[in-house]
Amino acid sequence: MAVTVRPVSEAVGAEISGVDLRSLSDQDFAAIEQAWTRHSMILLRGQQLGDDDLLAFSRRFGELDPPPNQERGRISPPGYPDIYVVSNVLDAMGDPIGALGAGEAAWHTDMSYLDTPPDASMLYSLEIPESGGNTSFCGMQAACDALPADLRRRIEGRRVKHDGTYNSGGYLRKGVTPTDDPMAAPGAWHPAILRHRGNGRATLYLGRRRNSYVEGYSPEESDALLAELWAHIIQRRFIYEHVWKLGDLVMWDNRSTMHRRDEFEGTARRIMHRTQIKGTMKPVAFVA
Ligand SMILES: [Fe+2]
Repeated sequence: MAVTVRPVSEAVGAEISGVDLRSLSDQDFAAIEQAWTRHSMILLRGQQLGDDDLLAFSRRFGELDPPPNQERGRISPPGYPDIYVVSNVLDAMGDPIGALGAGEAAWHTDMSYLDTPPDASMLYSLEIPESGGNTSFCGMQAACDALPADLRRRIEGRRVKHDGTYNSGGYLRKGVTPTDDPMAAPGAWHPAILRHRGNGRATLYLGRRRNSYVEGYSPEESDALLAELWAHIIQRRFIYEHVWKLGDLVMWDNRSTMHRRDEFEGTARRIMHRTQIKGTMKPVAFVA
């Protein structure tokens, strides 16, 4: 089988075909890694992966991060602490087997409330509803390149506070005190514009909107600035919307993309298994 790479949108993502991830040669892995560095998100359809296969493929990119602390803590399948379950399905006790329920998940990038966030996340579909639950990706390098000069000037050289209080589903993380004050919230400060270590490009790094704050401004000025930035990045031209099929493996770069999920019917079942590739260094500012 020959590996082919086909971009799925102008700003972000590529579909890779001709690969079975259970038996991947070094040469094919190199082609996948190159596509990932270039396109920030990759999609491989029709895979048949067990959790061991998912872990083996994930570990080719580096060491793994443990799952995020979600509304019910860190939820993993028994015996697989490095896998994180995203699901609305209930177990025999009536408790969710995973995180995020069936509601909308707001735009965010994964775990950026850590000083050294994971470089990448991978999601593999095991059960999906008939409709709904699409995941959209935003290309933050294209969005950064297209920033109006005035908007760029107002964030250049500044840091943004990334909130660790709430997850993308709006749930309070387990054991965390609720707050709407960015200064009181747990989280991390990162440069607003990063230099991507893989491809050297500038990328906007905003994390998530709730409890976000741009340093050096009053809370009101920061909110107004963030409103302009968010209106800019969620333009259609920067986004790819993924309609899931069974056996889809999607991997995204947390430094150069954000993602969100549509809600789906709560009575339908959706089960995804995720891994996250540990970041090796703290994000650094882009200097032109
Ligand atoms: Fe996420």
